[in-house]
Amino acid sequence: MTQPSETPGQRSANHDSAASHDPVQVLTDRFRAAILAAYPQTARPDGTGPDPVIAVAKQQEFGDFQCNAAMALAKKVGENPRKVASAIVARVAPMVADIAEPLTEASIAGPGFINIRLRSDALGGLLASMDTPALGVALAAQPERIVVDLCGVNLAKAMHVGHLRSTVIPDAIARTLTRLGHTVLRQSHLGDWGVNIAMVTGRIMRERAAGRLDLASVKLRDLEKIYKAAQAECERDMAGLEAVRKYGLGPKAEAELEEQVAGATEAFTAARKTLVDLQSREPETYAVWKRIYDVTMAACLETCRRLHADVTDEYTAGESTYADELGPLVEDLLARGIAEASDGAVVVRVEGVEVPCLIRKRDGGFLYATTDLAAIRRRVQKLGASRVIYGVDARQSLHFQQVFGAAKKAGYATVHAGPLAGNLARLEHAAFGTILGQDGRPFKTRSGESVSLTDLLDESVDRAKIAVAEREKKRERELPEAELARIAEVVGIAAIKYADLSNNRALDYVFDFDRMLASEGNTGPYLLYALVRVQSIFRTAEERGLMPAGGQAGLAKAALAIRAPAEKALALQLLRYPGVLQQVSETLEPHRLCQYLYDLASAYSAFYDQCPVLAAENAEDRASRLRLCDLVGRVLADGLGVLGIPVLQRM
Ligand code: ARG
Repeated sequence: MTQPSETPGQRSANHDSAASHDPVQVLTDRFRAAILAAYPQTARPDGTGPDPVIAVAKQQEFGDFQCNAAMALAKKVGENPRKVASAIVARVAPMVADIAEPLTEASIAGPGFINIRLRSDALGGLLASMDTPALGVALAAQPERIVVDLCGVNLAKAMHVGHLRSTVIPDAIARTLTRLGHTVLRQSHLGDWGVNIAMVTGRIMRERAAGRLDLASVKLRDLEKIYKAAQAECERDMAGLEAVRKYGLGPKAEAELEEQVAGATEAFTAARKTLVDLQSREPETYAVWKRIYDVTMAACLETCRRLHADVTDEYTAGESTYADELGPLVEDLLARGIAEASDGAVVVRVEGVEVPCLIRKRDGGFLYATTDLAAIRRRVQKLGASRVIYGVDARQSLHFQQVFGAAKKAGYATVHAGPLAGNLARLEHAAFGTILGQDGRPFKTRSGESVSLTDLLDESVDRAKIAVAEREKKRERELPEAELARIAEVVGIAAIKYADLSNNRALDYVFDFDRMLASEGNTGPYLLYALVRVQSIFRTAEERGLMPAGGQAGLAKAALAIRAPAEKALALQLLRYPGVLQQVSETLEPHRLCQYLYDLASAYSAFYDQCPVLAAENAEDRASRLRLCDLVGRVLADGLGVLGIPVLQRM
């Protein structure tokens, strides 16, 4: 079978770096082209030149940037590195004349470094061109339809700490992709079907029949208790019995255990029967299930709303919505020889993945993987996605390797319509690590239960309230209670969210309230304060009559004069913004945006210390610096918006 090729997004053809404002990117593009022209034999497989290795200069006296490619190139082409450098300079000089001071033999240093100094007006010019409502962020040249799988809670269970990650990480990824002009379809793959769900449903029906439960007033907490009880009933040493059978520990051990698990087997049989009732939409069973569904969803959507994660009913497509497709799907795969029978069960073998993907059990039951195969088929072939991104725990990575491999083999991942028809959709697992407690082990309550997400959010907001109140007291001010509560909610949620997003998602991290709520360092509160500080300069400027005509909007007319080192450093940070969003959209790593915003806030802080703004020497400098402040404020607010963190006007 010939495999369709991957979609063009993979080649990152989407990135129109020609329009970049970032001098590092501009220089990289132009040096790359110059090197290719001088040494065509160094072309990469895609026809572009080699990486010119452009770096920000460590010592400003030699220039702003360096091209460090000559040394490695010299080895490849068998020439002296200084000679290579001078060949590059000859080609590139006219290509960069608009932004760099003239490049000459004198620009070459040591073994072949090329020093580049930007023209004094270059940064101002680049900044002015990025000063648009879109902040220089260009929309994708080829917008895609992208499904982002997020949240994915399970019925009859409250959201726990792990759902923080499965909600905020993919939400931030979705926001980034939307910001870049893609069409994003969010899908919460709710765990609302299968024998486990049938188990709770059945048990709840029995509790109700016995008059121990009122469905109309039932809370998620009650459902969760019943879930646990039902599970315990079903699990009673089933694993032990399986082990005894597997290792053949003899009829005596087996008989003993069998007796013990008899109750469990009975519970299992009952659950299977309930599942059949659910499957056939038996009215009473279905009504109870629907009530469990509604109670779970109401709590989930409320938490998502509080987290500012865009998850709604409309974006929820639970496992139940695929239930009727699973039987025919397995038959389809068997008929086409994609799947095979194995020991009474049905599996799909995937090249390069050792464990085959189990899609139907011996007892005829379907699995998590079967549903995910149906989901890929719907997402790619019905919803028209050319990229599907899963923000799911790293512990599920084998599952996704199996399912992605099986879907490709089955043709379910092949795009049907549109300009990308015939191509394989990109299926990506944006895997995340585990949140750890202070003891370095997965974060649990003292009694070993999973930590409720609502409790965590409440505690964060409570702590933020104390911190904000203290801050106010130090300044001899007092906020009205309602205002304090409003600010605390924003700061507390921002702290938790930002802490999660700012860690490399692939890694585990230790949950630490003190650290995430700190008003200094790479934290949510720090960035919120930084933005408020930037904004406050405009209020002061107004009050003192120092704003140019037209107020903040009128600043767009001010000429940008970027001279002082701290101004340059700040300008370079600002210009990186569009490129950082692009990087996040490719790597699916929101922590890169967090780090960027923190670096920007730090560069601003250094600029503010070193370059008087309102006390600038003349009106031109003041206007130029105010315009820089304005850009910083807009980039910070935009970036926090992309992370899904609302900002405050005052704190
Ligand atoms: N409900 C699943 C769990 O709790 C997460 C769903 C993730 N998405 C998916 N398409 N498998 O583990």
